[in-house]
Amino acid sequence: MKLRRAPLEDWMRDFYFDTSIDLGSSGVQCWSLAELRDLTGITHHDLDTLWLDDSPSYGGPGLRTALARRFGDGDRERAMATHGSTEAIFLVMNALLSPGDEVVVIDPGYHSLWSIAESIGCRLKHWRLRPEDGFVPDLDALRAQITPRTRMVVVNLPNNPTGATLPADRFDAFLSLVADNGAYLVWDGAFSELTHGAPPLPDPSLSYDRCLSLGTMSKCYGLPGTRVGWCLGAPDLLARFLPLRDALTICLSPLTEFLAERAIVHADRLLAVRAPQTARNLRTLTAWAQEHADLVSWTPPGGGCTAFPAFTGVSDTEELCRTLGRDHDVLLVPGTGFGHPDRVRLGFGGAEAELTEGLDRLGRVLRAQASTRIREGAAAR
Ligand SMILES: Cc1ncc(COP(=O)(O)O)c(C=O)c1O
Repeated sequence: MKLRRAPLEDWMRDFYFDTSIDLGSSGVQCWSLAELRDLTGITHHDLDTLWLDDSPSYGGPGLRTALARRFGDGDRERAMATHGSTEAIFLVMNALLSPGDEVVVIDPGYHSLWSIAESIGCRLKHWRLRPEDGFVPDLDALRAQITPRTRMVVVNLPNNPTGATLPADRFDAFLSLVADNGAYLVWDGAFSELTHGAPPLPDPSLSYDRCLSLGTMSKCYGLPGTRVGWCLGAPDLLARFLPLRDALTICLSPLTEFLAERAIVHADRLLAVRAPQTARNLRTLTAWAQEHADLVSWTPPGGGCTAFPAFTGVSDTEELCRTLGRDHDVLLVPGTGFGHPDRVRLGFGGAEAELTEGLDRLGRVLRAQASTRIREGAAAR
């Protein structure tokens, strides 16, 4: 298995920990342990009486039950806890794919959703979300890629990085298209519970038995540090993950499983704070984009907390993002790793004051660079 480097992770390694203003991450503002304890009623006694033993292979019964109740049909046999959804993606693809398999992947998309299939030797076909459609998924474009030979369709909606989602009235037709071709559906629902203006879509694993639905504590719930994700699906499919699980992570920590369980049980309390915060941030971003309409073109996202704008006169955003990170203490992610070097992933899930300050700095840099371009253009004439 040969995995290529993930430019997104390289960028995060270089800038995430060394910048104080985050305009690049894809999740909501994270919680401290004290805040989480407050919101979910975890007591010191709960923590003190927790045994730091191994957990069961599929995850502890408490966490699996919480996952099944919130996202599934209540049957915990259909839920497996994973080490982040990163492990879930790895398990699903390595358990179900073989070299030469045809796999349709959403594009742009989070790197491991396509690179793991690629590393297995699968033949990738791209369901492209097009800028001219505001990145909204077009079923005709999927129809043009999917065939009865398609082994797996991999989607992430709402989508990282574009924020685009599937309009509710296309959901059934989408599922039929996948089911009619008999493909596995890997539904990465990292942002499922964070939508703007329309209710979340139903979980497709409830209605399609070849669907594996993935989720994570990292994005909507602000708990990336738990490294807890999950996969919901038919028990016989989950069972196929076990040899890899045994070789890779064996089990999760009962401590982080406990934190995740309580967060899932009380997810509404977490969302009641972070969803309105993200909505306010989206209004701030919209106002900023309007104010900079001569420099910024974008489509407001339908879900999640990332947008994927382009900037006038900037065909490769890497240098701009490097300047912001190095000289202005701002993390912004170039679109290179998502196949759109003319765009940036702009995360707006963070602290409100930080977003305002970050946008202010970004606006000043864009204005300064635009003035330089005009001056240089005039001098050249
Ligand atoms: C769409 C999507 N899926 C999966 C992941 C992996 O997240 P984690 O391993 O933290 O659950 C990410 C992280 O950015 C993501 O954006």
